[in-house]
Amino acid sequence: MSSPPPDAQPPAHEAAARRDWVAYFDRMAGKPARETLTGALDAFGAVAPSAPPFAVDLGAGDGRDTAVMLERGWRVLAHDGHAEGLRRLRHRPACAAALAEGRLEVVHADFADIEIPPANLVNASFSLPFCPPDAFPALWRKIDAALAPGARFSGQLFGDRDEWINLGGLTHLTRAQALDLFSDYVLESFREEDRPSTHKGEAHKHWHTFHIIARKRSESQTGER
Ligand SMILES: C[S@@+](CC[C@H](N)C(=O)[O-])C[C@H]1O[C@@H](n2cnc3c(N)ncnc32)[C@H](O)[C@@H]1O
Repeated sequence: MSSPPPDAQPPAHEAAARRDWVAYFDRMAGKPARETLTGALDAFGAVAPSAPPFAVDLGAGDGRDTAVMLERGWRVLAHDGHAEGLRRLRHRPACAAALAEGRLEVVHADFADIEIPPANLVNASFSLPFCPPDAFPALWRKIDAALAPGARFSGQLFGDRDEWINLGGLTHLTRAQALDLFSDYVLESFREEDRPSTHKGEAHKHWHTFHIIARKRSESQTGER
C-alpha cells in the first residue's frame, strides 16, 4: 500500500497539541535547527576550540538544535522531559561523537525539576509554552539566573491570542508580559507572529508566537533596548 502524499499527513503541531511527542518527533524528523538558535549562534561568532562556550538546550526534543550547537563547537547540556526524544538525540551523529568527547550532557527531567547551570546561551525552541503556567515563573527565574551579562537567550513564547490558550495547562503571555521578562536584556530580535495557520479542519490553529534572541545587558548598557 502506498503512503499518502506528505501534505496529507497531519501537521506536527497537531501532535504537539495532544502532547504526543513521539508523533511530533516523527513528523519533525529531518528539520534543520530553529532560526532563533542559529541567529544566536551567529551573534556569538566563531568559537575558539580551546575554550568552547556552553549552552543549555531546554526541551531539546530529539536534538535538532543541540546537534547544530555541537557541530559549531559548543559544549551542551541537552534537557527534555521525554525519554524517547533524548534517545533519538543521543543517536544523532554529532551528539554521539560529542558524548564520547565529553562535550554533551543529557538530562531527563521535568521543567519543574531542572537545575540550570551558568551558561553562555539558554536555548528553548518551542518548549517553554509547555511548562505549566504555575511553574513558569520559577523556571524563568532559573533561566535568568543562569545568564550573566553578555549571555543570550533564544527561543519562543506563546502569546495570549494563541489558540492553544483554550487547551489549558500551557503558558501564554501578553506581549507586555513577554517583553517584561527581558527588561535586563538587549532584544537582538523580537518577532511577533500573529496569524491563522493555512491548515483546514482540526489542524487549523491561530498562531501567536514571540520569536526571541536576547542578550543580557551589563550595567553599563542600561537603557539600551
Ligand atoms: C514542541 S517540542 C520542541 C522540541 C524542540 N526544542 C524543537 O524545537 O523541535 C516541546 C518539547 O518540550 C518537551 N516538554 C514538554 N513539556 C515538558 C516538561 N514539563 N518538562 C520537560 N520537557 C517538556 C517535550 O518533550 C518536547 O520535546
